[in-house]
Amino acid sequence: MNREAIHVSEEKLIEQKAYMAKVKETLTSNKTYHIVTLGCQMNVRDSETLSGMLEEMGFTAANTREEADLILYNTCCVRENAENKALGNVIWLKELKKDKPELIIAVGGCMMQEEGMADKLIRQYPFIDLIFGTHNAYRFPEYLYRVLSDRQQFAEVFNIDGEIAEGLPVKRQSPYFGFVNVMYGCNNFCSYCIVPYVRGRERSRSVEDVLDECKRLRDQGVQEIMLLGQNVNSYMGGGANFAELLYRVNALEIPRIRFMTSHPKDLSDELIYAYKELEHLMPNLHLPVQAGNNEILEKMNRRYSRERYLELVMKLRAVCPDIGLTSDIIVGFPGETLAQFEDTMSLVKEVRYDAAYTFIYSPRQGTKAALMPDPFTIQEKTERIQRLIDLQQAISYETLLSLVGNTEEVLVDSVSLRNENAVGGKTRRGHMVNFEGNMNLIGKTVSVKITSAGKNTLRGELI
Ligand code: 5AD
Ligand code: SF4
Repeated sequence: MNREAIHVSEEKLIEQKAYMAKVKETLTSNKTYHIVTLGCQMNVRDSETLSGMLEEMGFTAANTREEADLILYNTCCVRENAENKALGNVIWLKELKKDKPELIIAVGGCMMQEEGMADKLIRQYPFIDLIFGTHNAYRFPEYLYRVLSDRQQFAEVFNIDGEIAEGLPVKRQSPYFGFVNVMYGCNNFCSYCIVPYVRGRERSRSVEDVLDECKRLRDQGVQEIMLLGQNVNSYMGGGANFAELLYRVNALEIPRIRFMTSHPKDLSDELIYAYKELEHLMPNLHLPVQAGNNEILEKMNRRYSRERYLELVMKLRAVCPDIGLTSDIIVGFPGETLAQFEDTMSLVKEVRYDAAYTFIYSPRQGTKAALMPDPFTIQEKTERIQRLIDLQQAISYETLLSLVGNTEEVLVDSVSLRNENAVGGKTRRGHMVNFEGNMNLIGKTVSVKITSAGKNTLRGELI
């Protein structure tokens, strides 16, 4: 059961604010920080809070790790390569610290919540100053104060589900775009996935807290928000479900609303209908299918069938014909035969996603799938994923080509690194468009005539 969030008490938050002030007093000169964020949007949002707290403590952002006095890794463990990347980076930091002994190295995030991982780091990497997890990240100021005053390694990871800390400082990455958490954790236990073990059980923020954050962003001029949760469809805040929450967020008149991630088993008709009703809800949906074969879906514990998934796609397109769908797909789940993989290929042909994020299955310790026999070689899996990537690229390109000639509303978010007279932005459906224009357009929504399609992006002309 999804439950209402338990909040970090007011006293505990005041305590952390006091630690922020104490750290600020401790700093004798200008100190800088650099955060490396690995993994998903939830981690990006967490890093925004960690940055906010660091700035409140008197640190300023450094562009590179080499320039920083404090380096923080916000880690991910969803696949083994994410973990290897973090460990590889941390070893590199050891060298950096040899030349710069005052450097503070902190490691937080999902990987620290894995059983035995923090202990392993404590033993093997004594040069790491601070280790903490996702559930206690709000206590970062206190931990940092300890490290600065004791100059000793400090590690603390909580195994209980995190309480939600409201009102912490945030440094947003963009003045026009904002991530807003609606819930934390996951109850689904898909058999391959480590997330429920490291992020804990589902807990929702209250409707009021979500709306307050959205209103603040709107008043600051944010043009697009992304509501975040591991499975937003099971949001339940003070009796309101996710569709109801969306209607309330829509009423705030923020130009663009998106959300992720949706579990197909919980995608309600009410939510599908919201795509027709809500003018600010952008016509795109990330609806991970993971596999196209029913036996594999069952072994994955996804609790929907291929047929049910395709029915959802049909309903969505009936309500919102130009909806762009994206997906996550795992190739090489333990025991997946070639014939079963072909079912994934045929599903991709049938759905015609705008984009699909494809992953080779990676065994995660503690999950059910890690114990399942897996007779197929990595070569076989690599060949399969390449076929899937090629198929998806061809479909994505065909979709982009079909948009040539259209006039699209584009929210401009970037200026080209190579040409200061070229800017880029996203259509309502989520496609990237590049066109001639100057940087004053950033943060504005403009009409662009689509003139040609590249493999992944569109080109256009401002009209
Ligand atoms: N191996 C490969 N991919 C995985 N994902 C989650 N766990 C694993 C794993 N063990 C993928 C899923 C999920 C996305 C965020 O990562 O496709 O939707
Ligand atoms: Fe992992 Fe499944 Fe939860 Fe997504 S829904 S976070 S894949 S367990």
